[in-house]
Amino acid sequence: MSIQWFPGHMHLTRQAIAERVKEIDVVIEMLDARLPGSSANPLMQQLTSGRPTLKVLNKQDMADPARTALWLAHYNAQPDTRAIALDASVTAPARALIDACFELAPRRGGMVKPMRVLICGIPNVGKSTLINTLKGKRAAKTGDEAGVTRTEARIALADDFYLYDTPGMLWPRIFVPESGYNLAASGAVGKNAYDEEEVAYELIAKLKTDYPALMEARYQLGLSPEAWAQTHDDELVEAIGRKRGALAGGGRVNMQKAAELVIADFRALHIGRITLETPEQFARWLKAGKQADAERAARKKKLRDEGHISPERKPKPDKRSAARKPR
Ligand code: G4P
Repeated sequence: MSIQWFPGHMHLTRQAIAERVKEIDVVIEMLDARLPGSSANPLMQQLTSGRPTLKVLNKQDMADPARTALWLAHYNAQPDTRAIALDASVTAPARALIDACFELAPRRGGMVKPMRVLICGIPNVGKSTLINTLKGKRAAKTGDEAGVTRTEARIALADDFYLYDTPGMLWPRIFVPESGYNLAASGAVGKNAYDEEEVAYELIAKLKTDYPALMEARYQLGLSPEAWAQTHDDELVEAIGRKRGALAGGGRVNMQKAAELVIADFRALHIGRITLETPEQFARWLKAGKQADAERAARKKKLRDEGHISPERKPKPDKRSAARKPR
């Protein structure tokens, strides 16, 4: 599935972050606990490589607690990395964040060497909500459209602790197909950028094998976990649509409507707390995605070398990024 989700202003964001990173001690990378691997921005990882990182698995209230534990252990085993799980119901998250940052950069602190932390995350991960809580007032903008946060801001969490907010940044191309589906299902991608039916089928394919009991509890199709796993995705969508009254003319099921219904149920927590990927699954997808990408690049190079396609064009400079230098 190809997702068109990299708007022009992201180039500006990228430059601004590259500038800011030079004087940063710790990076707080906010991830969606329902899809930690897929919601990690490879571009951000490139820009901040070498900086100690605190992974915040946000929206843990929506995620499967057993899988969140797997992800925390996975990240905490990595060098220069700490991970904590969080959600918007935590009313005073500052202490845990500050402590984890000082663990990662113990030499910082005090007025002379204040801790400088960059907080980043893809749109809709809950960054504005967290920053609002940290500030204790609704100063950062929140909203349900991907990409609301636009400008960088500095927030003092203590006399010697500065948090730099960054606009929610995306990356140009999603080369792990499973990540594309999971990002779309989670609501991270604007709805015009993907095919809802395709996303819903992928979602159902995953839920019927990983969470059959939750699916049965929600949709009451009278199927055992084994039967859920073995039934074809089309048949499941049809049965769900029929059960929930998503009908077209002549008593037929409106498959598009039924598909949308499952996505909406997943996002609204009506099916239950679900995590769409484990560290082990994601590592497999990433490996396959990288391999497919390398093969694609090699094929393209061969065609170019043989003169079948024209040389790669440089991307046009973004008008706004050309006009405005990052602060
Ligand atoms: P962003 O700055 O990273 O783009 O995200 P933002 O804080 O705007 O949050 C995006 C949506 O996610 C908001 O819902 C917000 O309420 C919700 N959210 C944030 N943190 C959590 C969390 O820990 N758990 C859950 N369940 N939801 C969270 P919305 O419906 O788009 O907006 P609103 O109705 O809350 O204003």
